[in-house]
Amino acid sequence: MGTLDTRIAVITGAAGRIGRATTAVFHREGATVVGLDVRDQQTDCDHFICVELSDEDQVAAAFAEIDERYGRADVLFSNAGVALAEDDNVLRTSLDAWHRTIAANLTSMFLVNKHGIPLLLRDGGGALINTASLLGTMGSAVPGISYTATKGAVLALTADVAVEFARRGLRANSISPGPVETPLFTDGLDEAGRQRRLVHVPTGRFTEAEEIAEAVAFLASDRASHINGIDLKIDGGMSVAYVTPED
Ligand SMILES: NC(=O)c1ccc[n+]([C@@H]2O[C@H](COP(=O)([O-])OP(=O)(O)OC[C@H]3O[C@@H](n4cnc5c(N)ncnc54)[C@H](O)[C@@H]3O)[C@@H](O)[C@H]2O)c1
Repeated sequence: MGTLDTRIAVITGAAGRIGRATTAVFHREGATVVGLDVRDQQTDCDHFICVELSDEDQVAAAFAEIDERYGRADVLFSNAGVALAEDDNVLRTSLDAWHRTIAANLTSMFLVNKHGIPLLLRDGGGALINTASLLGTMGSAVPGISYTATKGAVLALTADVAVEFARRGLRANSISPGPVETPLFTDGLDEAGRQRRLVHVPTGRFTEAEEIAEAVAFLASDRASHINGIDLKIDGGMSVAYVTPED
């Protein structure tokens, strides 16, 4: 028996690396998975909807389609996001890059929460997991100022949701991954860049997408029944490291 048997689980960013890994773990745990993504690619989701998540009409239509098909949702993993190559420090980042990052990482989070939470509340609650990032709380010498700002905002947004709907049975938590072995992080990263970042990770390696998926499946399940309003860091100890072991 899986920990998510009979659950209807919605994953945004389902065509991406963490979305795919989470789909596999959710399936293993017995869930039916509905995937949303702007990239209309082959996924293993039971039902896939191609949607631009920063467009309210499209998001509303996607959740109406889920409502019509399943009548409810039990788990919502709001995971879609971008890290633009041109997102740099506060002096060098263009307003265009800022707006595009806000749209993809924050407006989409707001709209997915806005239109997804009513489906979670339909049967007395459910589990919401919003994807932030370690960069939401930590500064970085290799900055993406827009990305950082959006992820900090995701933490604040999730805390509000966690308090607002707790007595209606909704648990809302965020996750803050450190660097994960996915193209969003590794594209354009040379060996010197990898080593520059790896020195900060006590375990000496980056997180695998499957390790994010396992943590999300835990937060989505009844095993996390009284976990509400937390931000779960998945970073190999990076966020508490002053120095890391050399061997
Ligand atoms: N990879 C990392 O190192 C890392 C670290 C911390 C947080 N995260 C976060 O994890 C999440 C997933 O990242 P990933 O590594 O799987 O990246 P990914 O690029 O593989 O997947 C992200 C997916 O989101 C989709 N998406 C982006 N904007 C969208 C929009 N406006 N509408 C619909 N779909 C949209 C993309 O098409 C893509 O399929 C992101 O929110 C990212 O910020 C990643």
